[in-house]
Amino acid sequence: MTQARSSWQSNMGFLLAAIGSAIGLGNVWRFSYMVYKFGGGAFLVPYVVALIVAGLPIIILEYGLGHFEKASSPLSFARIDRRFEWLGWWMPIVAMFGIMLFYSVVIGWCFNYLLYSFSLSWGADPQGFFFKQFLELSGSAANLGGLRIPIVLSTLLVWVLCWMICFRDVRHGIERASMVFMPILFLLTIIIVLWSVSLDGASDAIFNHYLHADWTKINLFATDPTIRKAAGKVWAAAFGQIFFTLSLGFGIMITYASYLPDKNNIARNAFITAVVNCLYSFGAGFAVFGIVGFMAKSQGLPFQDAIKGGPQLAFVVYPKAISLLPAFNTLFGVLFFFMLLVAGLTSGVSLIEAFTCSIIDKFGYSRKKVVTMVCLAGFLGSLVFTSRGGLYLLDITDHFITNYGLVAGGLLECIIVGWVLKATVLRNHINRQGAHLPALWAFSIRYITPAVLFYLLYLSFTGDMGKNYGGYPTTQLVIFGAGWMLICFIAAIAFAFSPWKPERLKRRHRPEEDDLLV
Ligand code: PHE
Repeated sequence: MTQARSSWQSNMGFLLAAIGSAIGLGNVWRFSYMVYKFGGGAFLVPYVVALIVAGLPIIILEYGLGHFEKASSPLSFARIDRRFEWLGWWMPIVAMFGIMLFYSVVIGWCFNYLLYSFSLSWGADPQGFFFKQFLELSGSAANLGGLRIPIVLSTLLVWVLCWMICFRDVRHGIERASMVFMPILFLLTIIIVLWSVSLDGASDAIFNHYLHADWTKINLFATDPTIRKAAGKVWAAAFGQIFFTLSLGFGIMITYASYLPDKNNIARNAFITAVVNCLYSFGAGFAVFGIVGFMAKSQGLPFQDAIKGGPQLAFVVYPKAISLLPAFNTLFGVLFFFMLLVAGLTSGVSLIEAFTCSIIDKFGYSRKKVVTMVCLAGFLGSLVFTSRGGLYLLDITDHFITNYGLVAGGLLECIIVGWVLKATVLRNHINRQGAHLPALWAFSIRYITPAVLFYLLYLSFTGDMGKNYGGYPTTQLVIFGAGWMLICFIAAIAFAFSPWKPERLKRRHRPEEDDLLV
């Protein structure tokens, strides 16, 4: 017997929600900065390879699994084999307590900056403003130095908005919100891109830095071992970015697909989600490079000195550029930060939903109760990132989770689905819905994708062993990076150990498995 599950009203609603999860802050600043740092246009090669070798196969896997089991990630894995349920928990726990706790704070910053745009409060020194006045950044991660009230308030607002959206069932909550937000997001992005590329100095930066390819950066076969090693990092980064940007390895796509109606072309939906997301990143790159180019030109700086990575791109470089615009500075600022806010919110709700749905599936509590508790706990947890040392914690957590957590999650997913459930079972299921997924997909899930991911983990690990990430002291890396992941792992085991009501674990009759007997 299957429980009554809420479902999407339309395939469009599902797609917009899934694309909303995929398109987030990462598409705007993470992608562009990586392109810049890792060889300009040449980075697109590892990026597209990562998309084909890992991104597409795994998004199809996650959609397929969620749709096949009609269940959240823990229930899906528990049904495959109770011994692997912990993986099903680990992913949404990492999503919720690894990513969302800091992601919500960064969305909060966007809100602060949206307000600051009205008076261009960052003045002539956006860098000093961001670090000293806004974050009041402490000296190190060891010194959290109390909470920043303006950030606490904006973070609270983010959690309240997410709570309001997730409170209602998917159809009336996330789906409706996505139907409204996503068209707004696309429109805002188009305006920002067109505006940015029309600025003086933009085309220079776009051609010479964005599209211009430096092939040595990605040359894995270089004879010089330093070049080879550096190239290894670039490839690892490309895979990490694909996971992050497609929201893979969090159980999100499993959850979202579990709300699909019985008949659905999973493979087509997966393809559309991945392609729209990656094209969005590529398009947003024009805006980022355009505006940085404009800023560099108007200040007479070389491009290299103008661009910055990570949060600084949005909160230092952009504000500076906004102040330099010849006209409509406030309008540009408001549109830009509103765009980030919307992109972030639709990703944030998906992180919350994956965990919420897992709890509901296992314990059967009402959605309203679970969402309220989850958002409350989430807000309290994110307070640590609103502290004066928050930025350091954010940087460390983000590094460990994207480089290890997601990739390891994806690797285990492939192995369990590929070998325990059997990739062909899932392929049959997907193809019954009218898709034509080639046998290569199943082969990839069993062999190619896991082998590549394993190699990648090895690359990241050896890279990190050599020197401390970001120059942080080892104790801080161990506590906030590895320690955080260990806690998530213990929590996952604890959730997996609590007993199921037997009827929840029961599978539906699945004709796909009959095929195997023939
Ligand atoms: N995909 C989102 C981005 O690129 C971030 C995200 C990661 C959202 C993981 C949900 C889960 O910003």
